Amino acid sequence: MKYKRVLLKLSGESLMGDKQFGIDNARLTKYAEQIKEITDLGVELGIVIGGGNIFRGVQAEEGGMDRTHGDYMGMLATMINAMALQSALETAGIDSRLLSAIEMKEIAEPYVRRRAVRHLEKGRVVIFGAGTGNPYFTTDSAASLRAIEINADVIIKGTRVDGVYTKDPEKDVTAEKYDNISFDDVYANGLNVMDMTAFTLCKENDLPIIVFNINTEGNLKRIIMGESVGTIVA
Ligand code: GTP
Repeated sequence: MKYKRVLLKLSGESLMGDKQFGIDNARLTKYAEQIKEITDLGVELGIVIGGGNIFRGVQAEEGGMDRTHGDYMGMLATMINAMALQSALETAGIDSRLLSAIEMKEIAEPYVRRRAVRHLEKGRVVIFGAGTGNPYFTTDSAASLRAIEINADVIIKGTRVDGVYTKDPEKDVTAEKYDNISFDDVYANGLNVMDMTAFTLCKENDLPIIVFNINTEGNLKRIIMGESVGTIVA
């Protein structure tokens, strides 16, 4: 096993599957199966999930809503996804705890770093909900922050593309994939790995990022076993 403690970032959109909105339960079940493969190995796993399949603060602002207000709505959307994910993990027989950055005691434990670490040590998957609890920060930033706080070995970002490309592979067929790239080269080439706040946090704290296709079954386990999957930024 190459990585022992891992932070997995899932986008809200990834939960939609082929739907236009909301949560595709079949997709969620597939993710839970992949997660079971690595928790069975003894991996300590934290998960941050986005909310874009339900609500996006930035788009709400474009529609005239106050940005802060929209961002809080987005944080609530991540909690809906987090609860759905927890349910899927439970069905797959995975022990988990949901911690929220915004206090909502009836549905989640409040986020306390030491508690999160204890849960990980006891083999529970920890889902971090409600982003960082602050507007103007994306869930990528929440993922970077939590990964650093729990001392993760790596942050792995599950997407629907195979890694980081020279150009957008969904728009340009000449795009080429990087297997490895440095933080500086990501900046220099203006590549979109994460938003800059999230990315800079990783760089300043020497936290490697792996971008990979979560929809290819078995990828999660391959990464944990040290196989070259996706793109590693280090
Ligand atoms: P240990 O103390 O390490 O055994 O952890 P534990 O999580 O099993 O014990 P605890 O008594 O803290 O929690 C039991 C259950 O209640 C778990 O499913 C927790 O996620 C849940 N829980 C704990 N605190 C809260 C809370 O503040 N709000 C909500 N909604 N659930 C909580």
